[in-house]
Amino acid sequence: MAIEVLVKKTGGPEVMEISQSKLSENPEDNSVRIKHRAIGVNYIDTYHRDGTYPIQLPSVLGMEAVGEIIKKGDGVRGFSVGDRVGYASLPLGSYCDVRDYPSDKIVKIPDYISDVQAASILLKGMTVEYLFNRTYKLKAGEHFLFHAAAGGVGLLACQWSKAIGAKMIGTVSTKEKAVLAKNLGCDYVINYKEENVVEKLMDITNNKGVSVVYDGVGKDTFENSISSLQDRGLFVSFGQSSGMVNDVNLHKVFAPKNLFYTRPSLIVYNKKREDLEKSVESLFGLVKEKKIKTENIKEYKLEDVGTAHQELQNRKTVGSLVLIP
Ligand SMILES: NC(=O)c1ccc[n+]([C@@H]2O[C@H](COP(=O)([O-])OP(=O)(O)OC[C@H]3O[C@@H](n4cnc5c(N)ncnc54)[C@H](OP(=O)(O)O)[C@@H]3O)[C@@H](O)[C@H]2O)c1
Repeated sequence: MAIEVLVKKTGGPEVMEISQSKLSENPEDNSVRIKHRAIGVNYIDTYHRDGTYPIQLPSVLGMEAVGEIIKKGDGVRGFSVGDRVGYASLPLGSYCDVRDYPSDKIVKIPDYISDVQAASILLKGMTVEYLFNRTYKLKAGEHFLFHAAAGGVGLLACQWSKAIGAKMIGTVSTKEKAVLAKNLGCDYVINYKEENVVEKLMDITNNKGVSVVYDGVGKDTFENSISSLQDRGLFVSFGQSSGMVNDVNLHKVFAPKNLFYTRPSLIVYNKKREDLEKSVESLFGLVKEKKIKTENIKEYKLEDVGTAHQELQNRKTVGSLVLIP
């Protein structure tokens, strides 16, 4: 019997229920039926669970998984039963062992990447791809600020930055996280629990500040992010693990340095199939060249999803979390 992680009301990890799933006999015309082997846990799953991002309820959570096609609809082209595939997008519902999913949003997983590795990098790695290539084109030698450098997205950002030759200034909350980020390519690590982020960043950049800040932490880092930018710098707000930034006085915050603001998302950047393909090709290319390693993965049983969410939200994790159905 197939199982899924269902949410009927918003709240803490306890609102996630293991439930039996029902599938029709065959997938719809343009969908494939995927037997999941590994499911990516992403911070956004906690926003869907707790109502930070409202979703229609009841709903199965999750936006990322890897597995094998076991059936396909009549209209599916380019994919066969037996293919190893993965996805990192809507519709929600990856927290389960078998599901149907639109074939225009899946990608084939190459032999040199395991199921667990793929589920640990698809969503987070393509996020780094669009942030560093398309939201703002980072250049070799350029300093930039990136918060939560030892997280799932963060450790991939450290390695991607090194591959480009950019100079990443990363923030973390513990000494252990600092060592990990540094080892994976973050040039300068600031412990934002112990050090003054802006002072240290200004020392590193000879008081110039940075041209771009990538901020996935939100409320707690907002002021430091703004203070770290040069004139006409870009503030990229791509998440809020510490909570939403509220009540911003746009004129007061953005006018003095003529700053730019953007709030990007992977869903929009990879909406077109050609963008999805280019994005995943860049990511897998760096894995093949061994410029991105996929070592820091913590595996949980699908049934233990509550523990995974708790550890992620309590800042107990580094790198990526993967559920095994
Ligand atoms: N817009 C997009 O397209 C997109 C795509 C993927 C991810 N994201 C965003 O990117 C961010 C990182 O995602 P992830 O899945 O890789 O998570 P993650 O970075 O592994 O986990 C979140 C990290 O945020 C830091 N943090 C700081 N203050 C926190 C607080 N009060 N509570 C919890 N964590 C706090 C912690 O690192 P320290 O302990 O070192 O502070 C924690 O480990 C999230 O905001 C996510 O929503 C956005």
